[in-house]
Amino acid sequence: MSQSEEQKVQFKEVMRNYPTGVTIITATDKEGNPVGLTVNSFASVSLDPLLILWSIDHRSSNIDVFKSADSFAVHVLAANQKDVGYTFAKKGVDRFSTCEWRISEYGLPIISDSYAVLQCKTFKQVEAGDHTILIGEVVEIEKNDKEPLLYYQGSFSALPERIEL
Ligand SMILES: Cc1cc2nc3c(=O)[nH]c(=O)nc-3n(C[C@H](O)[C@H](O)[C@H](O)COP(=O)(O)O)c2cc1C
Repeated sequence: MSQSEEQKVQFKEVMRNYPTGVTIITATDKEGNPVGLTVNSFASVSLDPLLILWSIDHRSSNIDVFKSADSFAVHVLAANQKDVGYTFAKKGVDRFSTCEWRISEYGLPIISDSYAVLQCKTFKQVEAGDHTILIGEVVEIEKNDKEPLLYYQGSFSALPERIEL
């Protein structure tokens, strides 16, 4: 049974009101060029082994690169990285010319100043509707002393100020 338009509208509304963090996921294409996009479908999966997942839209210009990549890097963005989060969601922009980045020991593009970076080996791919779920095994973790960037109702924000009781 296919979903009604009303159900799709409701579904989008529910997901819009579900707060998440923000990541940028990068890989290197066959010619050695960096690719990357802003992603909020990131989630943890398993502790033994260390697994995470995210999903990529089949309409993404990067779908073929990620489907054939044997590794990728997840950058959990810091609260002061709104600009890079917007840039990596825009089409027709030379995304990597707008930020500082380097190539890691695994040959992955690593964007500077994130809250955390998880370098992953591709573990499994699952076709799911109009997306492909990419499951990665975490092989390297970098964590910095920063607060994360949040995504809620179509906007980026920082954590609200917390008052200790
Ligand atoms: C906050 C946010 C979260 C996003 N999450 C995803 C995601 O989980 N998967 C995905 O394929 N695209 C996601 N996108 C869209 C991509 O960042 C990008 O805009 C889209 O893939 C078009 O660029 P591309 O064709 O170069 O990939 C997200 C965009 C934003 C702003």
